[in-house]
Amino acid sequence: MSHRIAVIAGDGIGTEVMPEGLRVVEAAAKRFGIDIAFTTFDFGSCDYYLAHGQMMPDDWFEQLKDFDALFYGAVGWPEKVPDHISLWGSLIQFRRRFDQYVNLRPCKLMPGIKSPLAGREPGDIDFYVVRENTEGEYSSIGGKMFEGTEREVVIQETVMSRTGVDRVLKYAFDLAQTRPRKKLTSATKSNGISITMPYWDERVAEMAKAYPDIEVDKFHIDILTANFVLHPDWFDVVVGSNLFGDILSDLGPACTGTIGIAPSANINPEGNFPSLFEPVHGSAPDIAGKGIANPIGQIWSGAMMLEHLGYKEAGDAIVTAIEAVLSEGDQNVLTRDVGGQGTTESLGKAIAERLARG
Ligand code: NAI
Ligand code: MG
Repeated sequence: MSHRIAVIAGDGIGTEVMPEGLRVVEAAAKRFGIDIAFTTFDFGSCDYYLAHGQMMPDDWFEQLKDFDALFYGAVGWPEKVPDHISLWGSLIQFRRRFDQYVNLRPCKLMPGIKSPLAGREPGDIDFYVVRENTEGEYSSIGGKMFEGTEREVVIQETVMSRTGVDRVLKYAFDLAQTRPRKKLTSATKSNGISITMPYWDERVAEMAKAYPDIEVDKFHIDILTANFVLHPDWFDVVVGSNLFGDILSDLGPACTGTIGIAPSANINPEGNFPSLFEPVHGSAPDIAGKGIANPIGQIWSGAMMLEHLGYKEAGDAIVTAIEAVLSEGDQNVLTRDVGGQGTTESLGKAIAERLARG
């Protein structure tokens, strides 16, 4: 079976890290005998916007919907296009129209990377944040009244549907089931947000009944963020609503060092639409064009993509190759953000070679 992958490099360092992501995914495909065909698109970038007045062509949905996955670099170039236009015209459209209701981010402290948390070693931090990606606090229900007057009122509603909550919880429980520790932590705030959050807790308790071997706990979001910093070793799979997940999915990877290595996935688990895999970082205009961006976020996203397509062994092999190259610590290979003097290409090539060696 051949897998069709749509490739969108986007802007800035997106165009520099993407070739390394492709290099390593191709090396994995070769080693594990996976048949993958890449198709490159130039839309979803600010240059496309400057040429066409929109971020994507009108028929982008038709063009992309039958692909097995989207491999994205980064979007945004604030000097050319305001960020809300570039982001809403591309990534947000994919998340919504392709019903990518799970946002998944691994938080793993890698060898050779210094955690900003004192005394933490690789092995101490190894968990996933699962964020609900389509509803919750990020709704478009609400409005403004008496604008510009003393009586000005603004309201924005939180929307939690049983379908929406249950499906992301199911994904998180299933993920916990695949992990050795089999532990799930739920982010709540039922002491303050007294309608939707108790509902979220209720659905967690209900779902837990179907997973008797998973250990479940929950924390209010305020102390949960503190515990990410104080006790990152407590966590295995952490699930949260759109807003709480958003916060946790930045804080988690931040606890594991450089933004250059963190990957993420926006997943439609049923496969009705393509899922999207991208590094956490943006287009980094400050270092773009210099060839010094760390490609690991892109490469690790490629590993998540292979795992999503059913090739867990290939995905794991990429992560192992990343770990091996990081722990070797060759100054000429590693990029500056992880203490070396190498380039995007030297690091990408080293990981691909390591992977090919097996
Ligand atoms: P950013 O992630 O692009 O950069 C933040 C800082 O981290 C910069 O100092 C940058 O040099 C550094 N950095 C980022 N990736 C790196 C890498 N691979 N290797 C080494 N250093 C790296 O975030 P920023 O500056 O807030 O946003 C720049 C543009 O990117 C904006 O247009 C923003 O909207 C967009 N953006 C896009 C995202 C996406 O495509 N998913 C995510 C975040 C931002
Ligand atoms: Mg965020």
